Amino acid sequence: MEFQNYINGKWVNRKNTFQTINPANEELVATIAQAELSDVDAAVDAATEAFKSWRLVPAPLRGEMLFKIGDILKQKKEELAQLLTRDMGKVIAEARGDVQEAIDMAYFMGGEGRRLLGYTAPVEMPNKFGMAVRDPAGVVGLITPWNFPIAVPSWKIFPALVAGDTIIWKPSPETPAISAAFVKVFEEAGLPAGVFNLLMAPGADVAKALVTHPNVRVLSFTGSTTTGRAIAESAGKLNKKLSLEMGGKNAIIVMDDANIDLVTDATLWAAFGTTGQRCTAASRLIVQKGIAGKVKDSLVERTKKLKLGDGLDPSVEIGPVINKTALERIHNYVQLGQKEGAHLLTGGSIATDSADIIRSSGSKSATGFFYSPTLFDGVHPGSTLEAEEIFGPVLSIIEVESLEEAIEVNNRSQYGLSTSIFTQDVNRAFTAMRDIASGLVYINHGTTGAEIQFPFGGVRGTGNGHREAGQAALEVFTEWKSIYVDYSGKLQRAQIDNRDE
Ligand code: UN1
Repeated sequence: MEFQNYINGKWVNRKNTFQTINPANEELVATIAQAELSDVDAAVDAATEAFKSWRLVPAPLRGEMLFKIGDILKQKKEELAQLLTRDMGKVIAEARGDVQEAIDMAYFMGGEGRRLLGYTAPVEMPNKFGMAVRDPAGVVGLITPWNFPIAVPSWKIFPALVAGDTIIWKPSPETPAISAAFVKVFEEAGLPAGVFNLLMAPGADVAKALVTHPNVRVLSFTGSTTTGRAIAESAGKLNKKLSLEMGGKNAIIVMDDANIDLVTDATLWAAFGTTGQRCTAASRLIVQKGIAGKVKDSLVERTKKLKLGDGLDPSVEIGPVINKTALERIHNYVQLGQKEGAHLLTGGSIATDSADIIRSSGSKSATGFFYSPTLFDGVHPGSTLEAEEIFGPVLSIIEVESLEEAIEVNNRSQYGLSTSIFTQDVNRAFTAMRDIASGLVYINHGTTGAEIQFPFGGVRGTGNGHREAGQAALEVFTEWKSIYVDYSGKLQRAQIDNRDE
């Protein structure tokens, strides 16, 4: 397969290419034309030009375009899901979920075409009217990760489009095949040229040029905290609007009255789903001492049975991690954890034994980037395992005495994205809902699985105060414009003391 960049409604070839491989077997998935720095200018120019007319398309009609895109995504769901699994490794059921999130977001934001609600309020003077309306923000730059190659971009693309913005999208170079296939859907739906542009390249140069381009007004980034902070520095100097969605060190709190079977099911899914490569993945289990032994036994038993392999095989539960660098990074964390005194309960190794890995039929190679799902207990406060985002299938178990201590352990993390609590006690549940300092809180449910109609994002090191999804997404992609209409026919002065006039 070959893919190109999409600028001003045309697929553009380039001399240099890069490749994307399937992390389950290291076979080539596609060769990609590499965007050049001059393509950033071309794409921003196209988006700037297209903005002049797209902003004037009535919002309900922009919404209808989103419905059309949603319809095509529905037809192509299976085809896209299969390519998504080959491009980045997640199991096929999750890949279908990834595409489904885009479908949901297309319809949800399509409906916003008939809302985009502003408001009116009474004004201080007679014969005068005031209203606040949402204006499109302009040309937006979107930089997205490989772990949700369709869902996460959709959280940005659809609100931007319905708002009347035009887009330059720079997806992760790990998932170019599925990114280009996704853009083809927008082309097929008939989105006007220049409204949505795609730039793909390895390395940071293209993203940097996009971030610093003077005509890009809004930037929305999901990815690592290191990269997000670097973007924030550049964007801050240039006075750009910036939405950041970064790391997580999410916790599941287990109280001594919890249902152990439910805790086990939910923890395995939250910690090891997407091979732990979600910003919402549970990587700490904060468990009350009285129930800790039973929870650990149950988790160890079930973790050992998880089936690793090629995500295209529907019996596989845990796919590969994204690449060799990630495999090595995860293993380094595991080794460091052991050095720092944590106790390995199961896993802790790069999985290479073919007997443990399910291969898809037709696959010749016995390679791929597999890591055995890993559980630690005896994880000390302040240790690396407790503090840092690993982004792999590694769960650290921390024992506590009480709900208060559990919440304190949760809240001391540098990140604040998702926390869940398992308890059957309504008083504990409500206390947790009030005191957990995270952007997402789950009761009797793991830390993953946010739905698109609610705001998504985190506090502390996870974000910079913005939210994705829900109607909150519109805050990022629109600007408020307050309009005053004076129909008195004379000068009425506000903001001076005119009560005695
Ligand atoms: C991410 O991992 O970057 O709620 C976000 C969830 C997912 C999160 C995706 N939809 O678990």
